[in-house]
Order: sequence, then C-alpha cells, then structure tokens
Amino acid sequence: MNPLAERLLATMDRKHHWAYPSLTGPGLDRGQLLVHFRHEYATYVRDFPVLLARALGQVPPIEAVRVSLAENLYEEQTGRLSGTAPHPELFLRMMEGLGFSRRDFASDDEGAGLVAGLVPEAREYRDWLRLRSAGEPWQAAVALLTIFVEGSVNERAELAGTFVRAHGPEAVLRHPLVVHYGCPPEAMELTRAHAAVEGAHRGDAWRFLEHVPESGPVAEIVASTCEEGLTRWLAYRDAVARQMGLVRKAA
Ligand SMILES: [Fe+2]
Repeated sequence: MNPLAERLLATMDRKHHWAYPSLTGPGLDRGQLLVHFRHEYATYVRDFPVLLARALGQVPPIEAVRVSLAENLYEEQTGRLSGTAPHPELFLRMMEGLGFSRRDFASDDEGAGLVAGLVPEAREYRDWLRLRSAGEPWQAAVALLTIFVEGSVNERAELAGTFVRAHGPEAVLRHPLVVHYGCPPEAMELTRAHAAVEGAHRGDAWRFLEHVPESGPVAEIVASTCEEGLTRWLAYRDAVARQMGLVRKAA
C-alpha cells in the first residue's frame, strides 16, 4: 500500500474517544446533550463548507481534485445533490427535533463569532482548522478536511469493504438520537443527506492521494498535519467530556 495512505489510516484508527460510547448510548440529560452539540456545531459543523472553500482555493489545476472538492462544497453548503438543504441548517433542524432552540446555537456576535461558553480547546481546534485549511501545501489542507475531519475510525474497514455504513431509512431509525432521545425521524435529514452522498465522498477523499507524493517533504507535512489534527481533536473531546461531567472509567 501507498506508505502515506498507511500512515493516514494509522491516524484514523485512533480517531476514537473514550466518551463516544456515552454519546451514542442512552442516559445523557438535556444539558449534557446541549454541551456536546453546541461544541460540534461551533467547532466544525457551521463552517465546514467555508473550510472546504479555503482548501479548494489553493488547489492547482488538477481537475479531478477540484471537481470532487467543488461537489463536496456544493452539497455541504446547499444540500442540492442530496435534495435536502445546507448541512449546517440540517444540523439545526436536528437540534430542533431534540427540543433545542436555534438561539442555543447563535453566535455571541452577529459576525463570524462563536457560540458562547465553549471550552478553550474547542476554540483552539476550530481556529487551527481555519488556519490550516488555508495553509500550504494544499495537499495537507485537503487531507485534513476530507480525510481527517470528514472521516471516522472506520476508514480502514470501510475501504476494505468490511464496514458498510447504515443507509436508507435504516440509518435514521437506528440513529441514537432517534432511538434514545426521541428525535422524530423527520428531523434527521442530515443523516439522510450523509447516507445519500458520503459513501462516494469517502472514496474521493482517498483517491486524491494519487496526487500526493508517497514520501518526501510534502508527504511528511500531510501525515503530520492529520496527526496534529488527531491530537487537537482528542484534547477538544476530552475538554467537552469534562464539561459534560463524563468520567473516564478505569481500564
Ligand atoms: Fe455534511
């Protein structure tokens, strides 16, 4: 296998946080759910299309890469490939389905401001994503967003075909927010949109490595940027778990 792909997969293998089982199971109270979702929204959900635009703005004329980023950006900012709506808007509809108000997710100012009361690690992760998605080399910016941020701990199994993410009505009906927290399935368009388009996007994300040298200085920066993303993401998730009052169980 491409040695760079292997390094990136090794990073993705660790994109798991100890609090995840709590987040996908029953037992959280409303306050805990709100802390978690406010952070996710402010950290990368609301501005993900803009982060993609920052990366796309640096890509040299390699049509396949530009087209795949442009499609991803178009879907994230409009939802028109999946026939839904902008994904940040779909996220807010899901929050309304849980009984939260849009005001809970409003910025602390009218501009690019963040939701108030974020843990510092969330602001740091978010600021770093903004900076890095507009930084050189372009391959590191694209890998960070499309492989690390959009990808999951299941990348390796998904590429091998041994993990297939839930799709269709099943994906919604089995979603923890529907099963455990009473979110009506109609409010889960975000899951429907992701199930409709994201399988193809995962393939595109990894195919882009054809345009990155397998080793050498650029490959080093791509690998270390995604690894730094993981370190910052884990610090962010630790801090959110603390604010939610979750305690790590001894191994
Ligand atoms: Fe999305």
